[in-house]
Amino acid sequence: MTEILCKNEDETRVFAKNLAGIIKRGDVIVLSGDLGAGKTKFVEGFLEHYNLQEEISSPTFTIVNEYHNPLIDIYHFDLYRVNDIYEFENIGGEEYFERGICIFEWGELIEDILPEDYLKISFEKDEINDNIRKLILEPVGNKFSEVNFEEFIPRRKRLKILFVKG
Ligand SMILES: Nc1ncnc2c1ncn2[C@@H]1O[C@H](COP(=O)(O)OP(=O)(O)OP(=O)(O)O)[C@@H](O)[C@H]1O
Ligand SMILES: [Mg+2]
Repeated sequence: MTEILCKNEDETRVFAKNLAGIIKRGDVIVLSGDLGAGKTKFVEGFLEHYNLQEEISSPTFTIVNEYHNPLIDIYHFDLYRVNDIYEFENIGGEEYFERGICIFEWGELIEDILPEDYLKISFEKDEINDNIRKLILEPVGNKFSEVNFEEFIPRRKRLKILFVKG
């Protein structure tokens, strides 16, 4: 388990963009956390890795949004309005797992039928500062167990101080 602190939405976006570099076809990511926790913001950053972010929209009413380019197929699910696993199975949900990269908002609903290996990311809002989110990364199964997620933390801009000899 790794905890990453994102001090603003850009840090969440860039973290997701950096992480996307190691996620491959057939991989599954589950995002959980309250309304407004930053799950869709994360997906936006993830899509940036593939230059697909301009088309982002919330799939709240469609269950799944698809993003394609010659390199990858990304399926972005929002299961908030899905009642149970049967409803997910009825839309052929399980068939998506192997087709590309699947990212699930509110994915804990289908925990029982998820593949053996997936990456779970929980988003927690800060109680005091509304711009801060804690991302808790938990690899389920072996696939992501050796990953050092801290590598993907965006580098904060450092203040450069120039000493001018005079
Ligand atoms: N550090 C941060 N990371 C991500 N989002 C942040 C952060 N700080 C503030 N925000 C704001 O929080 C909101 C997150 O909204 P977002 O749609 O990503 O949430 P969500 O988890 O997808 O919610 P829902 O369950 O309703 O789909 C955005 O308005 C974003 O600007
Ligand atoms: Mg969302």
